[in-house]
Amino acid sequence: MDSYVIGGFVRDYLLNRDIPKDIDIVAIGSGIELARKVSEKLQKKPKVQVFKNFGTAMLRWKDLEVEFVGARKESYRSDSRKPVVENGTLKDDQDRRDFTINALAFSLQKENFGDLLDPFDGVGDLKQKLIRTPLDPDITYSDDPLRMLRAIRFASQLHFKIFPESLEAISRNKDRIKIISKERVVDELNKILGSDKPSTGLSLLFRTGLLHIILPELTRLQGIEEKEGQKHKDNFWHTLEVVDNISEHTDDLWLRWAALLHDIGKAPTKRFDKKVGWTFHGHEFVGSKMVYKLFKRLRMPLNEKMKFVQKMVLMSSRPIVLAQDIVTDSAVRRLVFDAGDHVDDLMTLCEADITTKNPKKFRKYHHNFKIVRQKIVEVEERDHIRNFQPPVSGEDIMKTFNLSPSREIGIIKDAIKEAILEGDIPNEYEAARDFMLKKGKELGLEPGKG
Ligand code: CTP
Repeated sequence: MDSYVIGGFVRDYLLNRDIPKDIDIVAIGSGIELARKVSEKLQKKPKVQVFKNFGTAMLRWKDLEVEFVGARKESYRSDSRKPVVENGTLKDDQDRRDFTINALAFSLQKENFGDLLDPFDGVGDLKQKLIRTPLDPDITYSDDPLRMLRAIRFASQLHFKIFPESLEAISRNKDRIKIISKERVVDELNKILGSDKPSTGLSLLFRTGLLHIILPELTRLQGIEEKEGQKHKDNFWHTLEVVDNISEHTDDLWLRWAALLHDIGKAPTKRFDKKVGWTFHGHEFVGSKMVYKLFKRLRMPLNEKMKFVQKMVLMSSRPIVLAQDIVTDSAVRRLVFDAGDHVDDLMTLCEADITTKNPKKFRKYHHNFKIVRQKIVEVEERDHIRNFQPPVSGEDIMKTFNLSPSREIGIIKDAIKEAILEGDIPNEYEAARDFMLKKGKELGLEPGKG
């Protein structure tokens, strides 16, 4: 049975990228049968996993994952319920793939082993850095609308351009993305966000209209309004700059998501005030609530990752206020107390948020944040506010004043925390205990008595 290596492996090999650990093999005949035959020949005969519905089979060998599929005449559709027909030639199969650069195949036959089969000049497109479909793009994209996102994702990951007709076809077919499962959409979004310069993919999503369907919260930020001679900035294009900035400093997908969503609360909170101009009061709070809805709609995890993004959005203006003012120790302690272990991520987000084109302001803001960062280290060394544990516990308070659970305990605990954050007392047991006795007295409590 003739067979070929096809797809991502060939593409990445020719691009000199890291050779992928998953290899796609197309068989001229049954992919499942070929997988079984290959397994027989390999040491220890690895188990063949069969996906009957898809007509594919997979085996793991060493650190490789090898997938076998029979060449198809019909369109490639992983979501179709129709049985897959494996009666195509190699060319039929290549016709039905997404892009010319993904339709490249290496022969595995003895007589021409390693020969490249490239019917659509995929190699030319690799050189020209072009994403182009083998067939009329309207056909390729309607075969599997996810490919519209894949085109944009590859453009973003590989720094390629999308062939103009293809880009037009994406705009034309954008609504078809609605039939694709949220999980697959998010998978592509995550890959776009994971690329070196995510704005490449995000702006293509915007230009084609896909973003309006997938993330309307974001596209609502686009535009500049003017009233009485006052304008606000375009928060959509600003956001894209922030995402690029943060991507230079972190590979953390969730921090990148936080950058993407940090301003989404600005659309619903936008007001014009005759005295102060444009305001977005409470946008951080509104934005953090929107994060939950957005994650839920896109069937993204509603776990601590989502909570992290919410927290970043909620706190996204806190260090900014700090950096505009004189940076007091107590303000820094409060910041560290509220941000906890995420304080460094929050600072990274705020630094990425500086997109002013005024070089003087740019330098000043960065300088101020540097001071905030230094203070965080100083305050942390001295006061250990991160993961704050009160030096005097609720139990200590109950024992000292012989109290049963009651409101007073909360009041005293809170007062101790406040005193530490304000810098009135150090974060130490002795000082906190003295303060507790003082506070108890104010409340009419006496040690040993109820
Ligand atoms: N393919 C396709 N249409 C899709 C998905 C995949 O035509 N919607 C074909 C392409 O030929 C692709 C191959 O299947 O190269 C393997 O798909 P996949 O493993 O998803 O992508 P890769 O190209 O290997 O790239 P990556 O691993 O970066 O996703």
